[in-house]
Amino acid sequence: MLNHTTSTGRTGHNGFPDRYGEWALVAGASEGIGVAFAHALAQRGMNLVLVARRKTLLDELAKDLRVRFGIETLCADGDLAVPDFLENLRRVTSRLDLGMLVYNAAHAPVGDFAGADIPDLMRVVDVNVRGPVTLLRMVLPSMVERKRGAVILMSSLAGNQGTPRIAAYAASKAFNRVLAEGLWYELKDKGIEVISCFAGAVRTPGYANTVGKDAPGTLDPGVVVEKTLRALGRKPLVVPGFINGVAYAIMGRLLPRKAAIGIMAGSTKDLARSGTPKVSS
Ligand SMILES: NC(=O)c1ccc[n+]([C@@H]2O[C@H](COP(=O)([O-])OP(=O)(O)OC[C@H]3O[C@@H](n4cnc5c(N)ncnc54)[C@H](OP(=O)(O)O)[C@@H]3O)[C@@H](O)[C@H]2O)c1
Repeated sequence: MLNHTTSTGRTGHNGFPDRYGEWALVAGASEGIGVAFAHALAQRGMNLVLVARRKTLLDELAKDLRVRFGIETLCADGDLAVPDFLENLRRVTSRLDLGMLVYNAAHAPVGDFAGADIPDLMRVVDVNVRGPVTLLRMVLPSMVERKRGAVILMSSLAGNQGTPRIAAYAASKAFNRVLAEGLWYELKDKGIEVISCFAGAVRTPGYANTVGKDAPGTLDPGVVVEKTLRALGRKPLVVPGFINGVAYAIMGRLLPRKAAIGIMAGSTKDLARSGTPKVSS
């Protein structure tokens, strides 16, 4: 489950290890936005704990980042829905100067709620809700003690209102947004920066599997990550991309809620059933 590798000599960075701590944990780091977070943080000189189920992808990414940026990496392959794995992560991270938690992993089954498998729905709760709550409770006390740290929770515009056919996923994304807002206030005077990223469509392999073609405002993962890292410390919520910002305002503030839900129903009616997040708004 664990593979710790060191490297020699870090390349230049812009103060992230000093600002937050030496290590960042990226939960959901094998693909898509998680890989982009890992790159951006390695580029800024942070050592990385990379977490996901696919060990080969994590090992390849870790090797690449060590060579390119001279950081240390630690790969933890396992299922974030399993409590024992979370407990293992506690043991691993307790030995590190962990300065940042990025919770990016998500499970998003597509389909009508009433016909869904109960274990699949529970997996949404375990990966998208229990996972971040558990990891946050594990890592925050030492960040508070060190008076520095950062938390990034990946959310989605799908959580801006109810979203038919991915109802449980969308609700879990609303949970992450609201959790981040509460923690942002609780922790802002303790040296810890908290933000949630309300992403619209992002060009990831999983998005391509589920949606098939780009929705308006679709962004590359690297753009989403850079906008999120730049907003960290300035506000509790970031909506990357101009079109997504407009959609957020219209759907969340201008339209009656019933109308916003109806629009979401239209945008999710053709989603494939392949299972991971990827909804445009
Ligand atoms: N792509 C979009 O359009 C979009 C839009 C809005 C919000 N978001 C949010 O952005 C985040 C990332 O999206 P993405 O498209 O990059 O997703 P993705 O391609 O499906 O990647 C998700 C990552 O999480 C890992 N993961 C999933 N379940 C896991 C589990 N049970 N245990 C451990 N790792 C797990 C996956 O790795 P393994 O499979 O190897 O475990 C993968 O590294 C999600 O939180 C999503 O809600 C995405």
